[in-house]
Amino acid sequence: MRVAVIGAGYVGLIQAVGLAHIGHDVVLAERDAERVAAISAGRSPIYEPGLPELLSATLADKSLTVTTSNIDAVAGAEIVFLALPTPQGNEGEADVSAIFLVADELAPVLPEGCLVVTKSTVPVGTNLEVGVRTGRPVASNPEFLREGSAVTDFMKPDRIVIGAQDRSYVDKLVELYRPIDAPILVTDLVSAEVIKYAANGYLAARVTYANAMANVCEAVGADVRDVLLGIGYDHRIGFSFMRPGPGFGGSCFPKDTRALVKLAADAGYEFSLMRGVIATNEEQLARTFAKVVAAAGGDVRGSRVAVWGLAFKAGTDDVRESPALAIVGRLLDAGADVVAFDPQATVPGISAAPDAMAAVDGAEVLLIATEWPQFQRCDLQAVAARMSGSAIVDARNLLDPTAVKAAGLTYTGVGR
Ligand SMILES: NC(=O)c1ccc[n+]([C@@H]2O[C@H](COP(=O)([O-])OP(=O)(O)OC[C@H]3O[C@@H](n4cnc5c(N)ncnc54)[C@H](O)[C@@H]3O)[C@@H](O)[C@H]2O)c1
Repeated sequence: MRVAVIGAGYVGLIQAVGLAHIGHDVVLAERDAERVAAISAGRSPIYEPGLPELLSATLADKSLTVTTSNIDAVAGAEIVFLALPTPQGNEGEADVSAIFLVADELAPVLPEGCLVVTKSTVPVGTNLEVGVRTGRPVASNPEFLREGSAVTDFMKPDRIVIGAQDRSYVDKLVELYRPIDAPILVTDLVSAEVIKYAANGYLAARVTYANAMANVCEAVGADVRDVLLGIGYDHRIGFSFMRPGPGFGGSCFPKDTRALVKLAADAGYEFSLMRGVIATNEEQLARTFAKVVAAAGGDVRGSRVAVWGLAFKAGTDDVRESPALAIVGRLLDAGADVVAFDPQATVPGISAAPDAMAAVDGAEVLLIATEWPQFQRCDLQAVAARMSGSAIVDARNLLDPTAVKAAGLTYTGVGR
């Protein structure tokens, strides 16, 4: 099928390469010319395992082409996917202006009968409005990929959600995704829009529950890892998204939880549970920062702090709303001398060491902020030898406290 994808970010790039890989003829449009040049040359602008190989293969067999022109991309398309950013607006709502801008831009040139499908996470009513603006049939097909395993998630999704007003639109998408073996949930437009927020709100709440339980464990002297194992074996509860840490972050959970509160409030429902999740998450960040300050002796001014990890989670180079960055920001504001190392992410304005060991040189405190597995395998004796102080704040519970103490270092984890 001839398909256009507008927006070559995490979602659009994976969608375009994935659809090309399963046999469709895809044109990917992106307004950032540098990004287009990189993708056209076979260089992935994001770190995502498996993506470079698929990108090269789909460019080589010409199933994927890339352009800076949205208008050129939709010529002859049967389906147009919108994979545009929906950042947080001033009052917590999702800002859908990029979606409407592109809908207005494309309206005069969209082929007759072409289906316009939103992949972006959008509030209730957005798809209907896209339909009004484009004068074309619309469908909602929210994205559930996880950064770090996005290619696998495209090929083997837990489910495909399709929201549409008319069955014939659904059939087109079912046909498109035929090579992919996954349950397909067909629903109305509004329910599809809500499903995406409901999923992210729930996952954020699970992470927050684990964080709050860790804080209870710290208060009463329990080990949160055993507590979460003890409840996770209960099949009603399980283990995923139940790892305590410095608070959730990333490009989706923070903005989507706020947008969920806002869309509920706009419809007359006060979502106090979700407000609690957001507030508890902010407290978790503050708590992690306070642990670093305590580890530095009560004041970080002038202290050298090594930070391992900048990405919002392991497996990605994405630093959007990363808890690591939020804590580094507070440390810098408090006068700390921060040196960071992340295997994939670099951030302008934050001093970066060439490797994890170089980051700890002369550090009074080491903060582990992202759960990259290589940090778990570090040589603790070498860390102790290279630090000037002896405190490790392990905001991801990556290290074994006994081994840390055996190396002559002090250990502060989360809920243990
Ligand atoms: N990143 C994720 O893990 C993820 C997962 C599920 C859903 N989502 C949702 O998908 C949407 C996109 O997320 P993302 O992470 O891919 O965003 P992103 O910021 O990485 O990518 C968006 C891309 O669209 C481009 N763009 C913006 N305006 C444009 C225009 N007028 N014409 C052409 N291109 C334009 C940007 O330059 C950018 O490359 C958001 O609604 C997000 O909430 C993201």
